Amino acid sequence: MSRKLRFGILGAGRIGPVHAETLAYRAPQAECVVIADINLAAAEAVAARYSIPNVVDSATAVIDDPGIDAIVLCTPTNTHAGIIAHAAQAGKHIFCEKPVSQSLAEIDASIAAVEAAGVKMQVGFNRRFDSNFMRVRKAVESGEIGTPNLFHIVSRDPFPPPLSYLRPSGGIFLDMMIHDFDMARFLMGEVEEVFASGAVLVDPGFAAEDDFDTAIAMLKFASGAIGTIDNSRKSTFGYDQRVEILGSKGKIATENRYSNEVVVSGEKCVYTDLPHNFFMQRYPESFALELQMFVEAVLEDKPVPVTGADSRAPVVMALAARKSVDERRPVRLAEISS
Ligand SMILES: NC(=O)c1ccc[n+]([C@@H]2O[C@H](COP(=O)([O-])OP(=O)(O)OC[C@H]3O[C@@H](n4cnc5c(N)ncnc54)[C@H](O)[C@@H]3O)[C@@H](O)[C@H]2O)c1
Repeated sequence: MSRKLRFGILGAGRIGPVHAETLAYRAPQAECVVIADINLAAAEAVAARYSIPNVVDSATAVIDDPGIDAIVLCTPTNTHAGIIAHAAQAGKHIFCEKPVSQSLAEIDASIAAVEAAGVKMQVGFNRRFDSNFMRVRKAVESGEIGTPNLFHIVSRDPFPPPLSYLRPSGGIFLDMMIHDFDMARFLMGEVEEVFASGAVLVDPGFAAEDDFDTAIAMLKFASGAIGTIDNSRKSTFGYDQRVEILGSKGKIATENRYSNEVVVSGEKCVYTDLPHNFFMQRYPESFALELQMFVEAVLEDKPVPVTGADSRAPVVMALAARKSVDERRPVRLAEISS
């Protein structure tokens, strides 16, 4: 394809504008020609900010437009499967925000629809494209730290979402730890077993929603390595995103990122400003790079870097984690079939 890849963005809420910005300024081989949202005013605001020439109030109008090559799917998760089926049938390539669905049956149907149509689908596990985490993976792959034995992720949000967000989100394992389950696979390979614990320590409202605001998962990898993920919905000092792997020849660790590197030394203490506050500030490069790689995969007919299968595995892990908490026992992923 010699011309630019023509995109339609579906959904102008929190994440839609992030991808609109990439298409506007950081993807020279692509352009966003339309944005759709059932809340037309939201779509109009994003269109004005990023000079998107067309605004519509339905996903269908974008999908059925023969002038559109690909969609960026940024509507709520429970709408993804239906839109993917329609878009694949219409021959559109699909960049779908994570997760494809909370239902394994819907994920399988989406993967089948995309395969049958011969279009590409990439899933938005953006943290894989963060330079720190890419460097950690390189260390593991190259044997730089020997055989990885112990793995830890700390992943804590600065503040909890509104309680109304929780129930449709699927809860802490499907909504929040899902990124960390993906990171665990990305860095260490397949997981075989999850043993999880959840607690309500930040806001009692989480209990009424049958959810947790604090959780730990212990993972057993197929390689024999073991690891932990810890999540909290409240980290008073900002977005706490760290990884450490201990291998037979050494250790690799990533620290939080900051908006500046200033160190203030006073009479009583030495200090820095706080780390980035949330994912928009912490991960902008990864959001740009994932979409750039999708554009490249479509234009050059290369495999996408994050596949439908990659989107299924962390959902299995999240379902296993919830089952583990409910049944107070380690759960093998092989037990999860729906
Ligand atoms: N990768 C990440 O870090 C990340 C971060 C945030 C959200 N997400 C994912 O992105 C998706 C959207 O999340 P969000 O936080 O932006 O949600 P949001 O609720 O802020 O925005 C969704 C938008 O979609 C619109 N919408 C709903 N149904 C629609 C339809 N059928 N057609 C067109 N527009 C429709 C809504 O009006 C809303 O403006 C979710 O799957 C979420 O998991 C990923």
